[in-house]
Amino acid sequence: MFEKRRVRVLFDEAAIAARNEEIAREVAAREPKDLLVVAVLKGSFIFAADLVRAFHRVGLTPQVEFMHLSSYRAGTVSSGQVSILRDVESEVRDRDVILVDDILESGRTLAFAKDLLAARGARVMTCCLLEKPGKRAVSIEPDFVGFRCPDMFVVGYGMDVAHSFRELPFIGVVEKDDAAA
Ligand code: IMP
Ligand code: MG
Repeated sequence: MFEKRRVRVLFDEAAIAARNEEIAREVAAREPKDLLVVAVLKGSFIFAADLVRAFHRVGLTPQVEFMHLSSYRAGTVSSGQVSILRDVESEVRDRDVILVDDILESGRTLAFAKDLLAARGARVMTCCLLEKPGKRAVSIEPDFVGFRCPDMFVVGYGMDVAHSFRELPFIGVVEKDDAAA
């Protein structure tokens, strides 16, 4: 049972909050025009919510949109196909768009979304909360990264395993429960 599992903290609330403020300053330094934040659902919803408020504190006035993408996975391994479950509603042409995602792993999800918005005429920047090194299947370098993440399956702060643990205010790794250990 998930309830019995412990989650070991990798990045705590204070570290995440501090990093969000730094990212906001980095984004502001680019002086984006007509900024649109596109949060890639579901995993980025908490990160994006905190990030847009950090944007406000550095004087940015973004609009916010959501794109729900699904990358088919066998267990915890990505298969490579990406499909759109929900698209953005706003016009993106000639706008600075910042794509916000939770984890950059193979890069397929973010590359897919970036290419799609760029094809519609947006100037696209990419921002991911976590980057797992050595896992890239396509060539994409994010403009902004929260943290480099060890090659472990992480949860919390919006990220899940089998729909659980999104509510945790920190990022952590699920450990075996005591009964199973
Ligand atoms: P990729 O970069 O297209 O391979 O896929 C990255 C996506 O896989 C992320 O947006 C997450 O939804 C999911 N993902 C990858 N690693 C993890 C993890 O450790 N925990 C939770 N979700 C993960
Ligand atoms: Mg995701």
